[in-house]
Amino acid sequence: MATTSGNAGPVGQEKINTDIVTLTRFLTEEQAKVKEATGDFTLLCHALQFAFKNIAYYIRRASLINLGGLAGSANSTGDDQKKLDVIGNDIFISAMRGSGKVRILVSEEEEEAIAFDEHPEARYAVACDPIDGSSNLDAGVSVGTIFGVFRLADDAKGVKEDMLLPGTELVASGFTMYGASSQLVFTMKGAGVHGFTLDGNLGEFILTHPDMQLPKKHPIYSVNEGNSMYWEEPVKEYINTLKYPEDGGKPYAARYIGSMVADAYRTLLYGGIFAYPADKKTVKGKLRILYECGPMAMVFENAGGQAVNSKMSRMLEVRPESIHDRSGIFMGSYDEVQKVIDIHKKHGY
Ligand code: AHG
Ligand code: MN
Ligand code: MN
Repeated sequence: MATTSGNAGPVGQEKINTDIVTLTRFLTEEQAKVKEATGDFTLLCHALQFAFKNIAYYIRRASLINLGGLAGSANSTGDDQKKLDVIGNDIFISAMRGSGKVRILVSEEEEEAIAFDEHPEARYAVACDPIDGSSNLDAGVSVGTIFGVFRLADDAKGVKEDMLLPGTELVASGFTMYGASSQLVFTMKGAGVHGFTLDGNLGEFILTHPDMQLPKKHPIYSVNEGNSMYWEEPVKEYINTLKYPEDGGKPYAARYIGSMVADAYRTLLYGGIFAYPADKKTVKGKLRILYECGPMAMVFENAGGQAVNSKMSRMLEVRPESIHDRSGIFMGSYDEVQKVIDIHKKHGY
């Protein structure tokens, strides 16, 4: 009960965690587990971390320093670029170049892959969507950065063809979400998924969600239903089974933010399904394989879920034909994605 002197306990009794796990500590500990590690990957992750903090900083201040609105240009895939798309892209490129560990970078905002020829020995390739959800920026909706890290083959030449790799070749991936707080979801090949929260005062990402596991099922679906007139039959049938359950159960809740990072983060925490199917109008799908679908698929699989494309192939095995190649995607709780697969199979997929 509050007293006139406030309700804090005597000095020294407040519970203070003096042994927090920062992202830096986490990466150091992970590196120590790999005997042959050179430290290159850890250094690359430190550069990624700085890019995330830097982008988060500008997003927080966007309304104050006139960073809203369009930059007056269009990106590689024809979308209008927002000022923050351009700033996020520049921050990301400079962090990757400065790390000295990246040979080649693909960004949504750059038509061509960027080869860092000043670092011919660098053995990593990075794909990124510097600001995902940017059409929502001015409305204060959460946006984020999606990234995937590949280890290049020893004979890689530092050309864009080196990057036409399936997600199974990713050594690490994840995404950030710059919202009420900045979150980072990070995973490595064959490992768990860990969530970090940026402590603005410390300037550190703190491990707040270790070993994230998707619930096996959950009655939430997340899809842009405005596209339903273009959907293929199995997609229509699947969504209808959620809205009009035959067993007399409750229908699913619809939740669609329109920022993949935010929809993905909610799905990771609560379960359910996120879908952006290919359809009759957008035959290849909307989302990009290298820097949206692949990295997300790795996160979802490593958290115990599934991710497939519109042909019901495992998303991680899909090799892009070009660096900005697109795909349909269904990702989420294991059982929810299985329902999608089963209905498509019934239709002969
Ligand atoms: P980006 O802002 O990087 O172009 O990505 C937008 C993507 C993704 O965040 C979201 O899931 C999807 O586009 C939303 O598309 P619709 O507006 O067509 O629903
Ligand atoms: Mn995007
Ligand atoms: Mn983007």
